[in-house]
Amino acid sequence: MQNPDTSAVADTNSDPKKVFIRTFGCQMNEYDSAKMLDVLGQEHGAVLTKTADDADIILFNTCSVREKAQEKVFSDLGRIKHLKTLNPNLVIGVGGCVASQEGSAIVDRAPYVDVVFGPQTLHRLPDLIARRKSEGRSQVDISFPEIEKFDAMPPPRVEGASAFVSIMEGCSKYCSFCVVPYTRGEEISRPFEDVLTEVADLADQGVKEVTLLGQNVNAYRGKMGGHTGSAGGNKTLDGLDHTHSAEIADFATLLEYVHDIPGIERIRYTTSHPKEMTTRMTEVYARLPKLVSFLHLPVQAGSDRVLAAMKRGYTAIEFKSVVRKLRAARPGLTLSSDFIVGFPGETEEDFEKTMKLIDDVGFDTSFSFVYSRRPGTPASDLVDDTPQAVKLQRLQRLQAKINEQANVIARSMVGSTQRVLVEGTSARDTNELSARTDNNRIVNFAGHPRLIGQMIDVVITDAMANTFRGRVVTSDGASE
Ligand code: SAM
Ligand code: F3S
Repeated sequence: MQNPDTSAVADTNSDPKKVFIRTFGCQMNEYDSAKMLDVLGQEHGAVLTKTADDADIILFNTCSVREKAQEKVFSDLGRIKHLKTLNPNLVIGVGGCVASQEGSAIVDRAPYVDVVFGPQTLHRLPDLIARRKSEGRSQVDISFPEIEKFDAMPPPRVEGASAFVSIMEGCSKYCSFCVVPYTRGEEISRPFEDVLTEVADLADQGVKEVTLLGQNVNAYRGKMGGHTGSAGGNKTLDGLDHTHSAEIADFATLLEYVHDIPGIERIRYTTSHPKEMTTRMTEVYARLPKLVSFLHLPVQAGSDRVLAAMKRGYTAIEFKSVVRKLRAARPGLTLSSDFIVGFPGETEEDFEKTMKLIDDVGFDTSFSFVYSRRPGTPASDLVDDTPQAVKLQRLQRLQAKINEQANVIARSMVGSTQRVLVEGTSARDTNELSARTDNNRIVNFAGHPRLIGQMIDVVITDAMANTFRGRVVTSDGASE
């Protein structure tokens, strides 16, 4: 698809080199931004620059989950418009979910934008830029070419001992408030062997921790080439038995295989859906010690009436039952979650049910948002008569409760020994090291730089506002 804007990007014989990428939104977008740099690096030898002023290519990787993020894209675009006058060779691109929703309307509103691409077409970026130059028109490609994106990606670059691996794209849950199924398309899983090969390659390059990434990773159903999935029921909250066929691996099977890859010491995943927390999923927590004792499981609300209106597919009791089973399989498991307050029609009583669920479950640091009406979603047609001030007050109360619970968890960790991945030197004091616990908390401690990139044990000695202080435990069990 092309936009009939004819202002040409002047062609120079040298390819652009410096790329500035501004990322809005979720971890999926962070991952996609890294991939944008990878594809441009492969085709154009591009490198990242931290300032838009000296860039040859400026990319905005946008988010449309909430209205504010969406509006920001256009104001930020306006702010870099003048750079195009200073450098006619500059290429400006808009990718991500706003691009996916707005398409050529972006070029209509901001004709100086050269390329518009969706989350599923970012691998076509070099081609789109080349066509922009040869045809002298802005290029728009927001199609969903299914799994092509994964196949077209250069091999992952390794930075440090931790890496993200995208295992699926899109979402087919269609929660009534959410744009993601429309902007990223329906769930598509990467083939099983492709994921395992990528993880094994990363492990060969020294990666010790992988985070398996997707909107709904536990909905993973990857094709297995020649392998048969392990047996076992796959009962989900909807009561159906989703036993996988011989050629399809579910997420529990994928975790088992990733767990067996030599060199991989810690496995994380995000995000998962309560409805897909099968009995096989709870079982893996009992069997796979490399799986972190921490889970991000978005619940959104604690009122069954609101959960039904959100089309989440579970009740508060069913959510709590999943958590109980997970904690039975893995004592000490901490959970974080996503919450939406002020969903259309949410009463004080509904909100109290969310607060009660938080009390009952006990969450670590979580994400909470005031409902944002998204045009085109089913919830956008609902009457929303709760005043914004009331919604903000509910948000504050909810966040205060979550913070209180997160602090209780932090204090309870003081004196415990935690297995951590040493990520580098501490941001505050370069003589110290910084590491991350299972539940994503930073621990700073004195230690030799040779420990960077290693999984080690530290004793938590003190809980500060957002971080811990710790002490290395030596291999003979004593503290250093
Ligand atoms: N499975 C995905 C995850 O947990 O990351 C959900 C994707 S969405 C990007 C992340 C969170 O944004 C959701 O869990 C929900 O709490 C929030 N969200 C989505 N649509 C929203 C809306 N219209 N208003 C407010 N928050 C929203
Ligand atoms: Fe959005 Fe619900 Fe999927 S929150 S990403 S539609 S699980």
